[in-house]
Amino acid sequence: MSKIMISKKFSILFRPLLLNSKCFSSLAKPITQNDIKVHYTKIFINNEWHDSVSKKTFPTKNPATGQDICQVAEGGKEDIDKAVTAANKAFQLGSPWRKMDAADRGSLMYKLAQLIRRDADYLAALETLDSGKPVSIARAADVELTIKCYEYYAGWADKNHGKVIPIRGDYIGFTRHEPVGVCGQIIPWNFPLLMQAWKLAPALSMGNTVVLKTAEQTPLTANYVASLAAEAGFPPGVVNVVPGMGPTAGAALVTHPKVDKIAFTGSTEVGQIISKHCNENNIKRLTLELGGKSPNIVFADADFDNAVKTSYFALFFNMGQCCCAGSRIYVEEKIYDKFVEAMVAEAKSKVVGNPFDNVDQGPQIDEEQMNKILGFIDSGKSEGAQMCTGGKQIGSKGFFIEPTIFTKVEDSMRIAKEEIFGPVMQIMKFKDTNEVIARANNNEYGLAASIFTQDIDKSLHVTQSLRAGTVWVNCYDVFDAAAPFGGYKSSGVGRELGEYGLSNYTEVKMVTIKTPSKNS
Ligand code: NAI
Ligand code: MG
Repeated sequence: MSKIMISKKFSILFRPLLLNSKCFSSLAKPITQNDIKVHYTKIFINNEWHDSVSKKTFPTKNPATGQDICQVAEGGKEDIDKAVTAANKAFQLGSPWRKMDAADRGSLMYKLAQLIRRDADYLAALETLDSGKPVSIARAADVELTIKCYEYYAGWADKNHGKVIPIRGDYIGFTRHEPVGVCGQIIPWNFPLLMQAWKLAPALSMGNTVVLKTAEQTPLTANYVASLAAEAGFPPGVVNVVPGMGPTAGAALVTHPKVDKIAFTGSTEVGQIISKHCNENNIKRLTLELGGKSPNIVFADADFDNAVKTSYFALFFNMGQCCCAGSRIYVEEKIYDKFVEAMVAEAKSKVVGNPFDNVDQGPQIDEEQMNKILGFIDSGKSEGAQMCTGGKQIGSKGFFIEPTIFTKVEDSMRIAKEEIFGPVMQIMKFKDTNEVIARANNNEYGLAASIFTQDIDKSLHVTQSLRAGTVWVNCYDVFDAAAPFGGYKSSGVGRELGEYGLSNYTEVKMVTIKTPSKNS
């Protein structure tokens, strides 16, 4: 593996760092695409690397330059079938995986977490190359949360067990917690490494087997983690990773009769397609983590500086490419002008550029997403919102967009209703609490929300009133492997992470045994 010189001073407490990313020390030397060796570009089945059956490949690109990084094997229907067959075989009773003690499963997962830690700097650099996120953030947030996710679920492996159930009559009853079976998992490009961990870790903890389809924009880090799973000692067929396109490889996984469960993160549009088709050839368990348009409510009594800096982070983190981005900011009338002024100053202070440099913001993932975002900016202007800063593509190489802020935004405008998935902020004005609750809930999504206030009664009242799967109070994007995450309404079905996430990978079997009569 090529040596990559990245400062070791990254803190694992990523949130404070992200709020003040200038505190990173500079990289020891500038890193370019040529410094990072890509080791694994094929399809991972049975702990071996395979070309696709069709021999087709596709390029994955560096979003900072628009150049191809390398060609990757393009999995199709036949490759998905091979992977599902391997996962199904590994799941059969009597296989090494099914015979393994739960505690040993936990040890294997812990070993995988240690290997990810060993190669953390490399993985951060590979993630930055493939996805464009600033390398300091990839290292402090994505890689660190990935390790924590595996460690957390390693601990669950021998603790997710059943109960003794008191039933009427001369019987003893108990439940067994068993794996669901073969899990088909489809992930997006905004957090490739972390979404891989959110999917694999709970599934493996409970003893399932997995076929993971990575996003076509970002196949590289999940492939590397697959190689680490083999190195850790997971038996062949337990972890399978198939890079490929959504409508071919993704659709084949969703409709495969030997897949027991589908877990998907991505657009609401594709979530609807998956819901429609996944039960065509059998009945599958389904969890969906979809889009969002999360309200962020700033009351006049909030700690002003915290509200501004955290609201900036809530929207602009990861170039705005977050399903839970705080993209509808409602600010109480009394502080609206002051808040807008401070937010525009915040935006103007940020550095956008090469994600291997000491920057706040890198490129968007690809040209398609960049053009979608620029289209939203045009619609904001033509519908009469006021653009205070930003609005343009930066340069012509790569897919960079200026941090953009709109004020005088009406709830009916497209930029206030639809998911932009880019560095474009909308700031609206409100007068009273009940009004803002109604407006915050008046959207098809319900993934996350936040409130900034120092009044505890107000924070509890608004928290209970919002229809969202997560509510952050005086903070944003505080993620923990133990904290469940998922959506109300069109933002999805089910929860990931924590004990709730584990339950989506668990079947409950009721066992009832006749006992001697109590009266005999
Ligand atoms: P997408 O939903 O098409 O892609 C996500 C994953 O689904 C990828 O792995 C893709 O290959 C797969 N996929 C696509 N079509 C499929 C199908 N018919 N069957 C099975 N799998 C399929 O999202 P896309 O096109 O990359 O981005 C479009 C918009 O979706 C973004 O602008 C953003 O608004 C939203 N999005 C939301 C994400 C989230 O975290 N909730 C993540 C990525 C995108
Ligand atoms: Mg890429």
